[in-house]
Amino acid sequence: MQARQDRIEQVLASMLPDPAIAPTRLHEAMRYAVLGGGKRVRPLLAYAAGEAVGADPARVDRVAAAVELIHAYSLVHDDLPCMDDDVLRRGRPTVHVRYDEATAMLVGDSLQSLAFEVIAEGTIADDPRVERKMVAMLARASGSRGMAGGQAVDLDSQGKILSVPELEFMHGHKTGALILVAVLLGARCGNPSDAEIAGLGRYAKFVGLAFQVVDDILDATASTETLGKTAGKDADADKPTFVSAMGISRAKGFADELLADALASLDIVAERGERLREIARYVVARDR
Ligand code: IPE
Ligand code: IPE
Ligand code: MG
Ligand code: MG
Ligand code: MG
Repeated sequence: MQARQDRIEQVLASMLPDPAIAPTRLHEAMRYAVLGGGKRVRPLLAYAAGEAVGADPARVDRVAAAVELIHAYSLVHDDLPCMDDDVLRRGRPTVHVRYDEATAMLVGDSLQSLAFEVIAEGTIADDPRVERKMVAMLARASGSRGMAGGQAVDLDSQGKILSVPELEFMHGHKTGALILVAVLLGARCGNPSDAEIAGLGRYAKFVGLAFQVVDDILDATASTETLGKTAGKDADADKPTFVSAMGISRAKGFADELLADALASLDIVAERGERLREIARYVVARDR
């Protein structure tokens, strides 16, 4: 995992515009938002899914970086005063605090555009029709039928009580969609069978939901210092979460069930899915 994290750090650093190029403040802020922090779970998943189907890691670099750029953009906007109003991210002041709100908006805009530049400008699959489909998959996962749509539901749900299916819808979109597309794009860099795609897709849906369930649990149980972001924000902002819906202990049990379901989805890739199994266990056992 460390080797893959180092690799994606280098790839991202090489794809971000040089901060010496104008507009320097925006380019600096983009690097601030992306580099030197983060667990890089989505790139790790893309590499591991590629490995499960024998894809060339040099191709996966591109899709892993694109998904992480979208993720980084989503965090910059998620932290804005008009959204979660957070001052701390990855152990440092958020982009709008370190720079300013307008810059944070433009950082998000620019990271999203860069993600599509990165995924569209090099070879990521043998067949150009597959490449085109991969670009469309990233677009859909990022927009109103994916992450941004989940964020809209999140903001609209403040102060409300959601049922478990409603929570699953919200989490499946705001967090699940990018995790799913990380896995599917990593796999599409190779030549996966339909059965492999189906198994990996099932795995990723369980991992994506588990990821946000654990994020909710950590918000309620971990310290600000460990998390690198302000703890206890969900309760303070009266957000419906799996913790508010079922309590910490049942939410943990639910995350364990999702892990078991994720692992059970990987039979199709047999021992080549070992890295994916490790990541799923990490997602549920992590402390930050
Ligand atoms: C935090 O994501 C936001 C969610 C989607 C839950 P991560 O926990 O992956 O954040 P970083 O990238 O490691 O900082
Ligand atoms: C954020 O969920 C999901 C996205 C950024 C798309 P949260 O608002 O729970 O993420 P954190 O806890 O601030 O990282
Ligand atoms: Mg949020
Ligand atoms: Mg937030
Ligand atoms: Mg959270």
